[in-house]
This record gives sequence, structure tokens and C-alpha cells, in this order.
Amino acid sequence: ASTLAAAAEQSGRYFGTAVAANKLGDSTYVGILNREFDMVTAENEMKMDATEPNQGQFSFSNGDRILNQARNQGKRVRGHALAWHSQQPGWMQNMSGSALRSAMLNHVTQVASYYKGKVYAWDVVNEAFADGGGGGRRDSNLQRTGNDWIEAAFRAARSADPNAKLCYNDYNTDNWSNAKTQGVYNMVRDFKSRGVPIDCVGFQAHFNSGNPVPSNYHTTLGNFAALGVDVQITELDIEGSGSGQAQQFQGVTQACLAVARCTGITVWGIRDSDSWRSSGTPLLFDGSGNKKAAYTSVLNALNSG
Ligand code: G3I
Repeated sequence: ASTLAAAAEQSGRYFGTAVAANKLGDSTYVGILNREFDMVTAENEMKMDATEPNQGQFSFSNGDRILNQARNQGKRVRGHALAWHSQQPGWMQNMSGSALRSAMLNHVTQVASYYKGKVYAWDVVNEAFADGGGGGRRDSNLQRTGNDWIEAAFRAARSADPNAKLCYNDYNTDNWSNAKTQGVYNMVRDFKSRGVPIDCVGFQAHFNSGNPVPSNYHTTLGNFAALGVDVQITELDIEGSGSGQAQQFQGVTQACLAVARCTGITVWGIRDSDSWRSSGTPLLFDGSGNKKAAYTSVLNALNSG
């Protein structure tokens, strides 16, 4: 197959990208988007600050632009993200206790209800575990409402949209020996054992020289999948260039292909110039929209998987 989406579809997987609403008028960008990808994540437009700028007042126009563009082209959408310590609207940032808990759950319910039946999956909770060696939760206003805030969010999302896959999404959870990876794994195992509704785990996969693609990546993905959840690479980008970068992209692709329940890969932007990273060349297309060596290595890996 000659596109990322078509190559991924050969094994029943998807290949997605993050999309920014303000680039939907860029014909080079949209041309690559329509040609190469069959799954879309809104880079910022479905986050809490974007969708509930004032408490109880919801704004879906930019999220809808991305969702409608994708669905009109026959692509599916991953919703990102219902509950997160970051990108909270101003009114939420200083809330606490039961008022914050209710506001968060209302947000989850309203946003998941609005998009009911239109998204393939939701990142219900994003980045709730701490970095470093402890393996515990990240301190945040949401965490301070009680350790059960994550399962409460998942239950609210399930009630609002019973057919969306519900994912927990985080970064630096790729290496099996990281304490953070173990912390998330233990939470998912606990959720599965107690019947808390969780369907998938997203691995953001933001890599750089200090945090390279781990050689045990397939082990991590396989161990999570063995808990009875799908796994997905949700925000892939890898700092670097040339054949070294291409090799790392190939390794990530092969790790996903090696795990039956790894259902798809999403890169976090289209061209290097679209990346959230202020410098560097972490994506599959250069600033002019040309395919890089990394693109070819991913395509070849998908075609031989
Ligand atoms: O749109 C405004 C613009 O009007 C303003 O002039 C400008 C000045 O700061 O800011 C613009 O908004 C920025 C927005 O990106 C759009 O470019 C925000 O400041 C900036 O904070 C925001 O960054 C986003 C970041 O999440 C916020 O946490 C990145 O685009 C987005 O790629 C990044 O994505 C996250 C995932 O959601 C979660 N995982 C990590 C990943 C990378 O950080």
C-alpha cells in the first residue's frame, strides 16, 4: 500500500494524526491529511479549556470543524481529552473539593454526550501519574478531590457514550522498567479486576535523545494488552533526523504490529513545522510537506507487518 492509512488497514489498524483547526485552510496540510491518515485527534480543540471556557457554557465549534472535516473524509476521531490537570479553563483552576469534582464530572458528561456516537475513543483521563521513581499519582487539584477521581471520570464517560472506547493516556510510560509505567499498569489491572469501565491505554510516545524508544516497548504494550485492554500509540513524535530517526520510527511501528491489541498509531502533527515542539524535526513530513526517511520506514514497516 502507498499511504500510511492503507498500509495500516492491511492489518486492521489505523494511522492517525493530530490536527489543528486553524490549519484546515492550508491546502498542503489538508492534502496530506486527506491522503495519508484515517484517524484524527484534535490537538487542542476538545480539551477542557476549549470546550467549557465558562462554567456551564460549552463551545464545540473548533472541535466540530476538525470532527466534521475528518468524518466527511471517512476518517474516525479520537477525542482528547475529557479530564486533565493541565489546559483547565481559568474558572476551574482554583476550584477544589466536591465543587471541583462535580464540575469535572459534569464536563465529562456534557462533552462525551455532545460527541456521543461520533468519536471512536476518548482519552478520558490524561497524564494523571507523576514522573520520577515513585510510580504514584501526580499531585493536582483533581487528585486532591480523592484518589477515585479517575474511575469516577471513566464511569461518567461510559454513561454518556456507551459505545466510545474509553482510554487512559500518558507519557513516559513506554519503558517497562519505569516506575510510572508500573503505576499505570497497576491502576489498569485494578480497574479491570473491579469492573471499572476502561477499554484502552494510550501511550503518547514523545521521544527524544533523553527519552529514546525503549528496546522493551513491545513488552510494555503486550503486558498492558494482556490485562484485557487495547493499546494505542497516541501522540508519536521522535526528535532527530535522517536514518537514526527513521530507525526509531520503524521500531515503534514494529512494536505496535507485534501486539495484536495494538490497534493503531497516531503521530502528533503532520509536518515538522506543525509540531508543538518549538524546534527540531520530529515528524514524518518536512516543512514543505515532503516525505522524510522516517515516513518511508514507517510505511515499509506497516507493509511488511
Ligand atoms: O492559540 C493561541 C494563540 O492565540 C496565542 O497567541 C498563543 C500564545 O501563547 O497561544 C496559542 O495557544 C497555544 C496552543 O498550543 C495552540 O498553538 C497554547 O498557548 C499552547 O499552550 C498550546 O500548546 C499545546 C499543549 O498541548 C498544551 O498543553 C500544544 O499545541 C499541543 O500540541 C500539546 O499537546 C499535548 C497533548 O495535549 C498531551 N500530551 C502532550 C502533548 C504535547 O505537549
